[in-house]
Amino acid sequence: MWWINPGDTSMKSLLISYHSQSGTCAQLARDAWRGAQQEADVDVTVLRAWDADTQALSRAHGLLLVMAENSGALCGTMKDFLDRTFYPAIARGLVMPYALLISAGNDGRGAQRQAERILSGYPFVPAAEPVILRGEWCAAHQQGSEELGQAFAAGLSMGIF
Ligand SMILES: Cc1cc2nc3c(=O)[nH]c(=O)nc-3n(C[C@H](O)[C@H](O)[C@H](O)COP(=O)(O)O)c2cc1C
Repeated sequence: MWWINPGDTSMKSLLISYHSQSGTCAQLARDAWRGAQQEADVDVTVLRAWDADTQALSRAHGLLLVMAENSGALCGTMKDFLDRTFYPAIARGLVMPYALLISAGNDGRGAQRQAERILSGYPFVPAAEPVILRGEWCAAHQQGSEELGQAFAAGLSMGIF
């Protein structure tokens, strides 16, 4: 049987950019990567936020940000990534779907609001509901992260965004 995708059939790329102080977000990024790997025709790149730049962004068809809420806001390193890429991305006309995977002690909504506000200016479009995982990493966090990575990659693969 032939599968015909009426959209763009070229290989899609997902960029996972993360920052982690304690290792929690690094673990979530690994889990999301594992989920995304289930889509064989999506190329998945994982970069620390301080190593990610406009070039990496311009090679991607989708962006997954994995970060903590710190002091009611985006962690500083992820904010720095967005600050560094905002005007260059606009200059290149980059528009892509994004998803948020937020680790938090007991909230996470401040980081969500700030990220959504900034990303709407690129303008990037949400591909999924933000996932906020509170407290220590656990099996449910692993599952939630894998599911988000897999769903995002599947959407890219099918060209539904
Ligand atoms: C300086 C600092 C500020 C934090 N501020 C918040 C906060 O405002 N709201 C919240 O829910 N959690 C807060 N947390 C908890 C972190 O979001 C949480 O521990 C997260 O898992 C850290 O992930 P990471 O260590 O991988 O970066 C804070 C942690 C630190 C170190």
